[in-house]
Amino acid sequence: MNLTNKHFLKLLDFTPAEIEGLLNLSADLKMKKKKGIPHRMCEGKSIALVFEKTSTRTRCAFEVAAADLGMHPTYLDPTGSQIGKKESIADTARVLGRMFDGIEYRGFGQEIVEELAANAGVPVWNGLTNEFHPTQILADFLTVREIFGSLKGKKLVYMGDARYNMGNSLMVGCAKMGMHFVACAPKKYFPNQELINACLSVAKETGATLEFIEDPMVATRGAHVIYTDVWVSMGEPDSVWQERIEELSPYRVTMELMNNAGAECRFMHCLPAFHDLKTTIGKQIHEKFGITCMEVTDEVFESDRSVVFDEAENRMHTIKAVMAATLVGATV
Ligand code: CP
Ligand code: NVA
Repeated sequence: MNLTNKHFLKLLDFTPAEIEGLLNLSADLKMKKKKGIPHRMCEGKSIALVFEKTSTRTRCAFEVAAADLGMHPTYLDPTGSQIGKKESIADTARVLGRMFDGIEYRGFGQEIVEELAANAGVPVWNGLTNEFHPTQILADFLTVREIFGSLKGKKLVYMGDARYNMGNSLMVGCAKMGMHFVACAPKKYFPNQELINACLSVAKETGATLEFIEDPMVATRGAHVIYTDVWVSMGEPDSVWQERIEELSPYRVTMELMNNAGAECRFMHCLPAFHDLKTTIGKQIHEKFGITCMEVTDEVFESDRSVVFDEAENRMHTIKAVMAATLVGATV
């Protein structure tokens, strides 16, 4: 694996061997962090973290990983820069590329991060777009490997809005790694046909299987992982809540579905999750629609089947691997 100077924009751009290599590097860096072994592989470098949407995990993962690698991060928040308002993406990219050794971008359309990458002259990392969230998938797959030992042949069922960043990226990741991906939702929430076709051609090479099933009991049978995400993503209008609640409630992850999958099955979620009434949005939705959870019950979220905080921790180790691999060609 030699990823020096490569962008990290979507998993479709990487071979299975490169993804495996990044996971191996992540595991090695995680071990070093746990044992207190220094790994300041990018000493003296600086990175820009551009966020046009809010974040807890991704921002913190990039900042802590940068510090561990010996780098200095600069955070640009959703309101604190000229991007898009007074300065084009291409101009911003050329400015940041003169000052920084790498740039993280979280925002809206995938074409924005692609344009940033085309103009920056330094590695650009996708920290979430509407279409893809590739660093999240690395963290999720590291977690799956830690639990089940390998990825190949494992069945991952994605419940809910499978046509957005998480459903799309998990489908691509599963196709690349020879897994069994199932999207479970009403038909209109399945990923778009163009992306499905791209994944099917990857699957031919890797032995992966892709299924699109509307019945939750059929879809989840034998699953190693049941995965879900919020029903309304960042940047979507409030007006879609009602429709999403009506259409996706049958796809909420419950203990019945976990048991239907089998005793081994783990629950995964990229977070943040709507599983109780301890948030402002949770309270508002409860007042308006009378529900106490959305995509997952509190019982499942808090159960010993749930590995959501392992995934959250692994964001940091995997993002560190992406930066070390693309900035200085780190491998194990
Ligand atoms: N999972 C994830 O990307 O979380 P943040 O939105 O907090 O970064
Ligand atoms: N689909 C969610 C993912 C958050 C990590 C969103 O885009 O808001």
